[in-house]
Amino acid sequence: MCGIIGCILYNKKAAPVLLNCVKKLEYRGYDSVGIATSSSIIKIKKDSGKIDDVHENLNLDDLPGDMGIAHVRWATHGLPTKENSHPHTDCKNKIAVVHNGIIENYKEIRDQLIKEGHQFKSETDTEVIPHLIEKYMDMGNDLESATRLAIGNIEGSYAIAAISRDEPNKVVGARKESPLIVGKGNREYFIASDAPAILEHTNKIIYLEDHEMVILSDEGIEIKDSDGNVIKKEIFTIDWTPDMAKKGGYDHFMLKEIHEQPEAVKNTLKEINEIKKIVQKFKKFNRICFVACGTSYHASLIGKYLFEGLIAIPTDVILASEFGYSAEALDENTLVIAITQSGETADTLKALKLVNHKAKTLAIVNVVGSTATREADYVIYIRPGPEIGVAATKTYVSQLVAIYLLAICMSGKEELLEKLQNIPDYMRNALEKEDLIKEIAMKYKDAKDFFFIGRGFSYPTAMEGALKLKEITYIHAEGYAAGELKHGPLALIDDDVPVVAVAPPGKSHEKTLSNVEEVKARGAHVIGLGSSEDEVLKSEAHDMIEFEDKIDEMFSSIHYVIPLQLLSYYISVMKGIDPDHPKNLAKCVTVE
Ligand code: F6R
Repeated sequence: MCGIIGCILYNKKAAPVLLNCVKKLEYRGYDSVGIATSSSIIKIKKDSGKIDDVHENLNLDDLPGDMGIAHVRWATHGLPTKENSHPHTDCKNKIAVVHNGIIENYKEIRDQLIKEGHQFKSETDTEVIPHLIEKYMDMGNDLESATRLAIGNIEGSYAIAAISRDEPNKVVGARKESPLIVGKGNREYFIASDAPAILEHTNKIIYLEDHEMVILSDEGIEIKDSDGNVIKKEIFTIDWTPDMAKKGGYDHFMLKEIHEQPEAVKNTLKEINEIKKIVQKFKKFNRICFVACGTSYHASLIGKYLFEGLIAIPTDVILASEFGYSAEALDENTLVIAITQSGETADTLKALKLVNHKAKTLAIVNVVGSTATREADYVIYIRPGPEIGVAATKTYVSQLVAIYLLAICMSGKEELLEKLQNIPDYMRNALEKEDLIKEIAMKYKDAKDFFFIGRGFSYPTAMEGALKLKEITYIHAEGYAAGELKHGPLALIDDDVPVVAVAPPGKSHEKTLSNVEEVKARGAHVIGLGSSEDEVLKSEAHDMIEFEDKIDEMFSSIHYVIPLQLLSYYISVMKGIDPDHPKNLAKCVTVE
């Protein structure tokens, strides 16, 4: 959802550093890129397209000055064109601004500014900001005060960085409902949409709250509240290393992150003591309510089966974007669990806000210090390291493990922890099927529609398999409860539609096999996921991905998803798509 960077460096050109940082944010948007630096004048290079392509044409790192701002765009207002790329400027090109978020009242502001004589060059909502700053600077305000007055006019969400030719040693940043962090290096100061972008320069991070502003200058960092009072903020030391945000020999971040999953799960398992401490603080809840989006929603669905199965607590799973529309019966006996890897998803944050202390809230999060961690009463960190690929993989399995640990601790059935210890080995076995999965990908890559089916714990796995396929291969896919097919979608099944059947051993196994027979009878090609001892599935499926472990379906969701991630990854690559940057999507969705 757009990424922004700002920096003031010491005796160093800013443009190459900005370029390097903004590349780390490309997962947030890749419709266009732009950099502005300031010395005696503001110089800007920007265009639509991915960073490497734009850089090849424009030499983005060839700009003077030791301070500046940069942006990658995920278009909301206006097509991805050069004109709509950030940074945006005022009428006199003396102010430049980058923005992440949505300005809801930009039309009224724009109309008013046009009446006052301002000239606009883009179709974006963002462009009103430099013009507002210009207006207030023309009235005699400095950049900081003019920015404060400008954002006072804005309804909606924003993280911004602004520079002005008149104050060439200053970057002003502000946030409301879009993430913005501040980095403190050695006489070098940064603002950024997230920490991995600046890790090569510093791991000392300050998290801004809504309505706070930051002023970077040669003298350091100053953070102010909405009234302009200087405030002191805690500096966090991030334990992620710069290497974690590199591809490490893999063709794509997604493939690297798929392979990191056994390690990711091991790291999450180490959180057990932290989770026990949190559970000790819990009172007795009589209802659990998960809120999440996308892949995190699928992890939450597994949570429903677990909490109802292990603790018999009624558990709802609500899409965060729908949370505000259902009459939520929340009270102090309800625990609302928000699952969000980024901790910055606008829908999930909105849901947390809507709870408004009516119930206790717990956030299960990857990004340390992200907004969700500050909104919730309790926080569990999942610790798989930074995830750069747009499609969630390792954070999904880590979310699952955190949910398993939580359910086990809350149920007191600690003997089940042993089952989780073997999961990293099962995951490694699943990763060894990569060549077979490549062959299956080759066979089905031209299909126009896919179905993924499963029952019980395997139903969310089927949904997650379908979501991965949709987002990185652009093939239409449905994740369906296997038993529900006959109530409608069976009409769509024919010999052109591959059906992936997730059928581990356990309670749901036999019925899933009946559903496999039903789709086969309509001509479907079946790709089966099941035990290596499952002779029936092996004989029914056209292609079979076998798991040597005999673990029950209750614990299968973590490693059974791996072949589905790999299948999508290889189909994506075979179709010439960049799986790290699927079209129209962004890693962190900071708009509602
Ligand atoms: C899919 C994917 C998205 C996210 C969703 C929620 O691969 O990554 O569906 O799961 O946008 O994001 P978080 O977990 O950051 O709240």
